[in-house]
This record gives sequence, structure tokens and C-alpha cells, in this order.
Amino acid sequence: MKFFVDTAEIADIREMAETGLLDGVTTNPSLIAKSGRDFMEVTKEICDLVDGPVSAEVISLDHAGMMREAEILRKIADNVCIKVPLTVDGLKTCKKLTSDGTMVNVTLCFSANQALLAAKAGATFISPFIGRHDDNGFDGIQLIEDIRLIYDNYAFETEILAASIRHPIHLLQCAKIGADVATMPPKVIKDLFKHILTDKGIEGFLADWAKTGQSL
Ligand code: E4P
Repeated sequence: MKFFVDTAEIADIREMAETGLLDGVTTNPSLIAKSGRDFMEVTKEICDLVDGPVSAEVISLDHAGMMREAEILRKIADNVCIKVPLTVDGLKTCKKLTSDGTMVNVTLCFSANQALLAAKAGATFISPFIGRHDDNGFDGIQLIEDIRLIYDNYAFETEILAASIRHPIHLLQCAKIGADVATMPPKVIKDLFKHILTDKGIEGFLADWAKTGQSL
């Protein structure tokens, strides 16, 4: 399972990259706004920090506008993955870009039928939003399960990029279902390392080690 970090904060991305566990980055217009950075500049910095795909989202809603923006974005670096919304124009753009060998992440997916359309459009990644699905009274994890079943039925190569992950249980459920990628905020990735018994175990071992009077 690949781990992406969902942020545009350079310090957080650097910290995650240093763990050696980071496979890519996702950003969106809200995360760029939160960072307060210039879109092109910060995307370039992220691409230099991480070898894997870095999703950068188009703003236009029409196919021509999306193509124009994709042209600008894909010049930033080879590992830029163009993020398009799951709309008719978004999927038209997806088909065109992936046919030319450009990576595309189709975002804002809230139904398995939408995911089927994205796979038929040749998407590199489909991003179903688990947390936002849950927030609106739907079952985000069931959505991942349905997409996995459909993609396996037809051997689609589109990778399921579980997004809008809010806590480690979401990640655990996605891993059990077989999501290909999970994009998580830095805090959720950090929380994956934690266990009270690990902390207590370290405390106990260090206390006993101190009693030996030895040093390494
Ligand atoms: C994914 O690519 C999105 O940027 C992200 O996961 C959205 O998460 P949110 O619902 O927490 O904003």
C-alpha cells in the first residue's frame, strides 16, 4: 500500500519524506490557500522533495481551460500528477492527458459508478473521499469496498487512492479492503506510529536497563 501525504506544508512533507515511508503527495486548492504559498512555487518545491506523484489540481471547469492549466502544471516536473474533478469535462481531460502519458488523479469521487467512469477514462488514480462521505450520512468505507470489487471484476489498472482520511481506523479499513494508496494528513500518519503499550514497553525496558549500570 502506498502512503501519500495530503498537505502543501513543506516542513510536514520534508518530515514525512525523512521517514522513508512516503510515496507521494496530494494537494488541493484549499490546502494551497492554507499554506499561503504561490501555487507554482510550492508545487515545484514539493516535486523536488518527493520522487513519487504530486497531485496538483486544475481550477477551470471546462475541458479547454483544464487542458491549458494542465499544460502549465505538467511543465513543473515529471512527477506532477494532474488532478481533475469528476465531471464530464474532467473525464474528457483525463482521457486526453492519460493517452499522452500524463498521470491523472480524478478527485471528488462519491459513488462507485463515478469510479467506474474514471477507470474507463484511463485515470491513473481515483480519489474517493471517505471522511466527507461519512459526514453526509453515507458509508465511506463501503464506497472503497464497492470500487475495489468493480475494478477487480474488470481488471482496471486505475489505482484506488483513498482520500479524506480522518483517523487511523479509516487507514486500517482501507488496507484490509485493498485500497492501493491512502492519502492522509500529516497528523494521521504520525498517529499510525503510536501505541500506548509501545510507550510503556520502552519506559519499562529503559528502567530495567538503568538498573544494570551498563552503557552502550
Ligand atoms: C484528496 O486528494 C483531498 O485533498 C483530501 O483528502 C480531502 O480531504 P478533506 O475531506 O479532509 O478535506
